[in-house]
Amino acid sequence: MVIVLAAGVGKRMRSATPKVLHEVLGRSLIGHVLASASHITADRSFVVVGAQADLVSAHIAQIAPHFKPVLQAEQNGTGHAVRLAMAEAPDFDGTVLVLCGDTPLIRAETIGELLQGHETDGAVATLLSGRVDIPDGLGRIIRTAKGEFSHIVEERDATAEQRRIVEINAGIYAFDAATLRRTLSALTTDNAQQEEYLTDVFGLLTAETAAVRVHPVARQEEVLGCNDRAELAELARRLRDRINRDLMRSGVTMKDPETVWIDVTVEVQPDAVIEPNVQLKGRTVVQAGAVIGPDTTLADVTVGEGASVVRTHGTGARIGAGASVGPYAALRPGTELGADGKIGTFVETKNAQIGTGSKVPHLSYVGDASIGEHTNIGAATVFVNYDGVNKSQTVIGNHARTGSDNMFVAPVEVGDGAYTGAGTVVRRNVPPGALSYSHAPQRIVEGWVASRRPGTAAADAASAALANTAGSAAPANTAGPATPEPEEGSESGDAD
Ligand code: UD1
Ligand code: CA
Repeated sequence: MVIVLAAGVGKRMRSATPKVLHEVLGRSLIGHVLASASHITADRSFVVVGAQADLVSAHIAQIAPHFKPVLQAEQNGTGHAVRLAMAEAPDFDGTVLVLCGDTPLIRAETIGELLQGHETDGAVATLLSGRVDIPDGLGRIIRTAKGEFSHIVEERDATAEQRRIVEINAGIYAFDAATLRRTLSALTTDNAQQEEYLTDVFGLLTAETAAVRVHPVARQEEVLGCNDRAELAELARRLRDRINRDLMRSGVTMKDPETVWIDVTVEVQPDAVIEPNVQLKGRTVVQAGAVIGPDTTLADVTVGEGASVVRTHGTGARIGAGASVGPYAALRPGTELGADGKIGTFVETKNAQIGTGSKVPHLSYVGDASIGEHTNIGAATVFVNYDGVNKSQTVIGNHARTGSDNMFVAPVEVGDGAYTGAGTVVRRNVPPGALSYSHAPQRIVEGWVASRRPGTAAADAASAALANTAGSAAPANTAGPATPEPEEGSESGDAD
């Protein structure tokens, strides 16, 4: 049986959000604790809720629905909280594991070792102890002159001498159910906080010379709790370091791990390279050999093998193998970039499928679009998907070459192998292999600057240039052709 205590207010967080719901690297504080306890096959699992019980219960129902909330309407202490949970399982006998909802660094291995030691030693109660630099606010472990465990004293009930003790109670315990039930019913509120202290169970048990066990934690940071935002940040740093160390040991390169924040829920495969200033969140997956960053935030993004993502903000996107993204790209939900494709500099995409080998290299918005394979979209293109009321779709085929500064006014289609000229506003479908353009004839008004902007630097430069060319051949083609011909190649934008 597992009991997680989460009824406390967490006053020092000074937050409208219940303490245990504050997030650290991909999970709530209590989410981390429940994840570490998830390998324990308990037939009964309870979370004691109190402060903002509805919010906490709803969160538990989402992330760990097999945990049953038990309401502790008034926070009369940890002993009272455990007593209420025990009352939900009156016939349970076996081992009861008690955890706190605000110690997110506790690891599954440590919980496993605590339980194993408890059971192999035949103890009736085991507590996890730690040694911390600043024991303020924590229960101190009092030992006899011989060094044997005696009892726990809470900070507020401790003498000045006892407060100097740095061996502390982590708030993580294993109990024999029958013994726990019996001793809980003997607790009093005769203490500084007028609460039922769960910790008094240990003193009662040593007094009757029962088998009480202290299990020292191997890695001290695991017992750190969270009382205020400064401690929250410290927990986050330590969890970050742990995650990064594990990833680096698994074969991921990190150039500057202190600036890399990866949620516990993220998968990064070996030989991926994480450059400085990267955040990877949620269900993000980075496949082998991909390079992420610098300066990139990805949430729920899958990055294919060998792809590169530079200075990019991405949410809900899939990036194909060998593709390249950024610098300065914004990928919004529904973006799917095919293998070897490109989403380049200052490009925003949303609900956009861009096929294998297709490229949107520069300064564009691609929304509600499907682009086929090996197509190139010219620089400064806008997919005009919104008419003020409805969103519509643009479909562009394979091997198309669209010109720079195009507007695709959706709904509209461009067929396979079609071309469009620079500056085209595409309102009508373009059939496969056709050229479409919509630019007006270019006019030239000779001498306009000299007559309308006399005396300016531009006028001086023009007159100097005209004096230089005077006598040589007259400037060609000043009137422009009757039927404008878009030039080839140059107006599709850079193809790489
Ligand atoms: C408790 C221990 C202390 C230990 C510390 C470790 C007691 C009396 N003291 O301190 O020895 O060093 O944890 O963090 O147990 N909670 C409830 N209901 C309540 C009171 C608390 O559910 O009525 C929950 C809180 O939400 C929290 C946990 O119990 O998750 C610990 O409570 P907290 O107030 O943080 O710890 P202390 O009681 O000060
Ligand atoms: Ca308390």
